[in-house]
Amino acid sequence: MKGSFEALKLSDHVYWVGAVDWGIRDFHGYSTFRGTTYNAYLIMGDDTILVDTVKAPFMDELLLRVSSVTDPVNIRYLISNHSEMDHSGSLPRVIERIKPEKVFASPMGVKALADHFHMGTEIVAVKDGEGLTLGNLNMFFVETRMLHWPDSMFTYLAEDRLLFSQDAFGMHLASGERYADEIPESVLLEEGAKYYANIILPYSAVVKKTLEKVGRLGLDISIIAPDHGPIWRKDLDMITGLYSRWAAQEPTDRAVVVFDTMWGSTESMARAVGEGLVAGGAGVSIMPLKSANRSDVITELLDAGALLVGSPTINNNMFPTVADFLCYARGLKPQNLIGSAFGSYGWSGEAVGHVADILSEMKVDPVGEAIKVRYVPEFETLQRCRALGLKVAGTLKGAVGSG
Ligand code: FEO
Repeated sequence: MKGSFEALKLSDHVYWVGAVDWGIRDFHGYSTFRGTTYNAYLIMGDDTILVDTVKAPFMDELLLRVSSVTDPVNIRYLISNHSEMDHSGSLPRVIERIKPEKVFASPMGVKALADHFHMGTEIVAVKDGEGLTLGNLNMFFVETRMLHWPDSMFTYLAEDRLLFSQDAFGMHLASGERYADEIPESVLLEEGAKYYANIILPYSAVVKKTLEKVGRLGLDISIIAPDHGPIWRKDLDMITGLYSRWAAQEPTDRAVVVFDTMWGSTESMARAVGEGLVAGGAGVSIMPLKSANRSDVITELLDAGALLVGSPTINNNMFPTVADFLCYARGLKPQNLIGSAFGSYGWSGEAVGHVADILSEMKVDPVGEAIKVRYVPEFETLQRCRALGLKVAGTLKGAVGSG
């Protein structure tokens, strides 16, 4: 295998030595139709340093890439910016193999790694704002607690003006290209938004604070090296600007209509709501849960101002796919939405109320009345659905216009 995997030199001292996971299609419930990468970085100075590792099955690929530059046993220090197992999964075996002199992590990272691996290796805590000189190179650590785990931190390598940003500014995208500027912008926008919506969204307040903090620190950054997807070496404002925009969650005049259906009634209602939205001048994405994955719906919602959810009643409950989506969406905490619920039922009709309750928990501002119909909607009900769409469109335009 030696010689089959190579490192890529990124800057004077830093090499990419990660792994490409072309086949993954489900990342703990997030659909990854373009695969992903687990980025790890080798720093070659007077001392050799490894920043993060890779998911456990990819350890050989990591070590082979390291071997294309130096014998892995030469790694003296290891820095763990994030303890989630896509970056730490091979850490215990890498430590066993290379026996580094020291392993560094944030204070919360020390605890998280202990709770993951119970390995007895001493991990040295580095504090927020702490600098560390390793050989001829200077590291600076920025704690980014809850971006997106308690242990998360950035490491800045001053000599190369390079920020190792762990999950932040990353995306799930397998590619032969390592740099963002080698990948079509449409793909970066699509996968960057999907990653933000599915991983970072609940921590948008932390994103805002972190962007401000990095600005205040005055770090001179020429490369952002995240733990997933392409590396940013040009136009860094593009990705930081997108994070700033997504974190603000300003409402737009787009609506997402998400539903499932048993015998087509709730689907007819969804389509009528959609017609009203279009007639009222709103952008619309109608997403049937039989074909749309929850992670694609939440991505659409990142750039929307309204969420309308349709569910039939089954066994006194909402439809299971709708419950799945709402559970997922509630956890991701999208902000500044208006919306409503609708659906058909046979005899008890609890689903629409259950959906409305969850929308209320999500602080979705209700517009119009929730609409439910027994069995099959007739002309008048479909007109009410269309009217709901029109009302939502009007409210969105008012909100966006006044913003
Ligand atoms: Fe890529 Fe939070 O791990």
